[in-house]
Amino acid sequence: MITRNFTSFPILTTERLTLKQLSIDDQQNIFALRSDTEINKYLDREPCKTIEDAVNFITKVNDNIKKNNSLYWVITLTKTKTFVGTICLFNFSNETNSCEIGYELMIKFQGKGIMKEAAEKVIDYAFQILQFQKIVAHTHNKNQNSTKLLTRFNFLQSTEANKENPDFNIFTLTYLNWQTIKYISTKNPNR
Ligand SMILES: CC(C)(COP(=O)(O)OP(=O)(O)OC[C@H]1O[C@@H](n2cnc3c(N)ncnc32)[C@H](O)[C@@H]1OP(=O)(O)O)[C@@H](O)C(=O)NCCC(=O)NCCS
Repeated sequence: MITRNFTSFPILTTERLTLKQLSIDDQQNIFALRSDTEINKYLDREPCKTIEDAVNFITKVNDNIKKNNSLYWVITLTKTKTFVGTICLFNFSNETNSCEIGYELMIKFQGKGIMKEAAEKVIDYAFQILQFQKIVAHTHNKNQNSTKLLTRFNFLQSTEANKENPDFNIFTLTYLNWQTIKYISTKNPNR
């Protein structure tokens, strides 16, 4: 069994972004993100109704990180420190050596390649550092932006029906498929 320890939170950086730990100072931004009807459109979750909901969510997220059960990053623009969204790894399974990925961007910051940049870093981290063999994503069958992101990264749609929610498709990325897409990207960087 692989031991994963997040006592020292893994801050990740890319060309434009810094991915850091969620803090209580993010409560207004978390409220804005999780109460937005457009962002919530294809998500199967209870929207934030009050700031207290956002504070409780932040506490829950950081408790889970303390227990080494999941990781949740705030995505910020490095230059301006602007909060643009979040990305997380959760549902760790030792049995299948897999985890699930979730992500969301404030509307204003969609369509700029930000999630592609953040997700690439997080996926690499999940495979190389956390040593998962498989990453799973559940996405609504009408969620075109999310589906596009996943297929761009070589996630394959599972033929297995989603028993809990039939409107959601299950996508899986294996380490082997990830290495393949990374290799293709080096040959064609504009992909
Ligand atoms: C899913 C979600 C994160 C995708 O966001 P996104 O901005 O479309 O995805 P990316 O950051 O990868 O950006 C890709 C787009 O930016 C464009 N782009 C602009 N500048 C770019 C750049 N410098 N580099 C790369 N792409 C760039 C791309 O062409 C692409 O546009 P296209 O979709 O028209 O082809 C977003 O739609 C979202 O937050 N949705 C609500 C929450 C949600 O549904 N989450 C999914 C849970 S399963």
